Amino acid sequence: MYNFAILGAGAIAREMGTTVQRTDIVNGYAVASRDLSRAQAMADQYGFDRAYGSYEELLADPAVDLVYIATPHVFHARQIRQCLEAGKHVLCEKAFTINAAQAREVTALAREKGLLLAEAIWPRYMPMAKILRDFAAGDKIGRIYALTANLGYPVYHRERLHDRALGGGALLDVGIYPLTFASLILGEDVTDIRSAADLSDTGVDKSNHIVLTYASGARAEIFSSIAGPTDRRGVIYGERGYAEVGNVNNYEYLRIFDQDHRLVEEIPCPPQVTGYEYELAACAAAIAEGAVQCPDAPHEMSVTMMALMDTIRNQWGIEYPEL
Ligand SMILES: NC(=O)c1ccc[n+]([C@@H]2O[C@H](COP(=O)([O-])OP(=O)(O)OC[C@H]3O[C@@H](n4cnc5c(N)ncnc54)[C@H](OP(=O)(O)O)[C@@H]3O)[C@@H](O)[C@H]2O)c1
Repeated sequence: MYNFAILGAGAIAREMGTTVQRTDIVNGYAVASRDLSRAQAMADQYGFDRAYGSYEELLADPAVDLVYIATPHVFHARQIRQCLEAGKHVLCEKAFTINAAQAREVTALAREKGLLLAEAIWPRYMPMAKILRDFAAGDKIGRIYALTANLGYPVYHRERLHDRALGGGALLDVGIYPLTFASLILGEDVTDIRSAADLSDTGVDKSNHIVLTYASGARAEIFSSIAGPTDRRGVIYGERGYAEVGNVNNYEYLRIFDQDHRLVEEIPCPPQVTGYEYELAACAAAIAEGAVQCPDAPHEMSVTMMALMDTIRNQWGIEYPEL
């Protein structure tokens, strides 16, 4: 099993700690935090072997195979570079980087180094992603001409989310999930992007509305927010019916309705441990094959998604520091 290490001992790092502990996919090897006691507490809690009080010490440990970056978005590109330069495979949280230029640069570096670099955009790795792709390619509701999707939580108070210097705002944190949903169903061939955002007094988007038009003529209407909770649903509209997906962040079900609003089929989400095990398994498989990317979330997808979010936030005038 590959030795797995976590960079940053925050909220999502703990979810990953739980996942590693409750599965048998990678070996929970090390945790690094800017604060050694925080790293040690997390290593103890999740049964990891080592704790480091700096990210540099962890990267200097030759036993580390795969590093999971769980820090705010603005640091991702720099830390991906540091990991790759240290010869480590990388699984990096979303938003993958702060913009598309950084995404292009780090994916090129991974290819140059021959190391795995994968974006931890978990709903792309889940079995439900394939179910959704197959549904979109099929004809159960006729030609798909529209979808709506939303995601929101009341999390604006958290420092990482309202601080522009840390890459705060709804789009890069939660908006990426309904955008991912739209991409799974309608693809990447976006021809027009319209959007509006409610900006906070710290200069980040508290909530935003986006309309994407695709070359096929289909449209996606996306809403995301860090100001309050939303119902998290995705709804796909076809000429003979529609389908509802529970929670585009962590899928619950796919329900298919006919044009008379009768439920004709319900596909529950396949069982999962935490849902993060699928991206771990994809990374382990990719490393074993010598691949530099995961088929479920290839480099080109990460670059395309960052470019889409660059265009959208440019419409609102939001700029982030490039580290
Ligand atoms: N896939 C998912 O479901 C999911 C869910 C939530 C978040 N995320 C992503 O994961 C990343 C981290 O999110 P989170 O919610 O875990 O954030 P968080 O709780 O704020 O933790 C981030 C960690 O990053 C480290 N860090 C390093 N430099 C920092 C700085 N200058 N300011 C603040 N923190 C710094 C800190 O760890 P140490 O002090 O221990 O070094 C901190 O605990 C984000 O990119 C987010 O989008 C993904």
